[in-house]
Amino acid sequence: MPRSSTPRAPKLKNAQPFTRKVLAWYARAGRDLPWRRTRDPYRVLVSEFMLQQTQVSRVREYYPRFLERFPDLGSLARAPARAVREAWDGLGYYARARNLHELAKCVTRRHDGTLPDEPEELRELPGVGPYTAGAVASFAYEKPVPAVDTNVSRVLRRVFFGRATLKDSLTVAGNVQRATAVWGLAGKLVPKNGKRAWQFNQAMMELGALICVARKPKCPQCPVRAVCRTGKG
Ligand code: ADE
Repeated sequence: MPRSSTPRAPKLKNAQPFTRKVLAWYARAGRDLPWRRTRDPYRVLVSEFMLQQTQVSRVREYYPRFLERFPDLGSLARAPARAVREAWDGLGYYARARNLHELAKCVTRRHDGTLPDEPEELRELPGVGPYTAGAVASFAYEKPVPAVDTNVSRVLRRVFFGRATLKDSLTVAGNVQRATAVWGLAGKLVPKNGKRAWQFNQAMMELGALICVARKPKCPQCPVRAVCRTGKG
């Protein structure tokens, strides 16, 4: 196996200061977004489906309209496919709308209309991958579980693994290994307390969206610069 596909061990001695700094920054700089004001599982789920491939600014526009038209899982489950597609118009990637509709029907039939709260059960639903399962469990049910999407993964890699692992996406095996390492790390970092876990997961998304962006990270403004293996402290 090429040496570059074995991730370096993350520097866990920085875990506590990292979490503390991220939480403090989020309390100060986190955006007030509509899906952060609710713990309603259906509303959280809809936001996560929309945010999978669409920017926050656009979701902000479509989210309230969609919820007005389909205020709960039952109304979505009963709706004709055409109406769901219409409400999704403008967001693109319609497979998400089809999956969300199927999911609503499935939960109505199999789970008595209540979305499961465990990531493993959520994973069995249409269109729900590891990230969305973690996000719904944390953001709706305040379960102390990690939620790692592309943004969060980038932040964790830069902070804890440093540059050596950035090349690993060149091989499939390297990718799988890296994803496993990053999820494992996120599992160690996420606070045990559900409310703090909620804040931590939102804060990680926010850091990836506003500061630790893909192309030109804003290291001078970064709250975790002092404990980052990549940014120049
Ligand atoms: N992208 C995915 N989930 C998000 C969230 N809860 N807030 C902001 N961006 C997100």
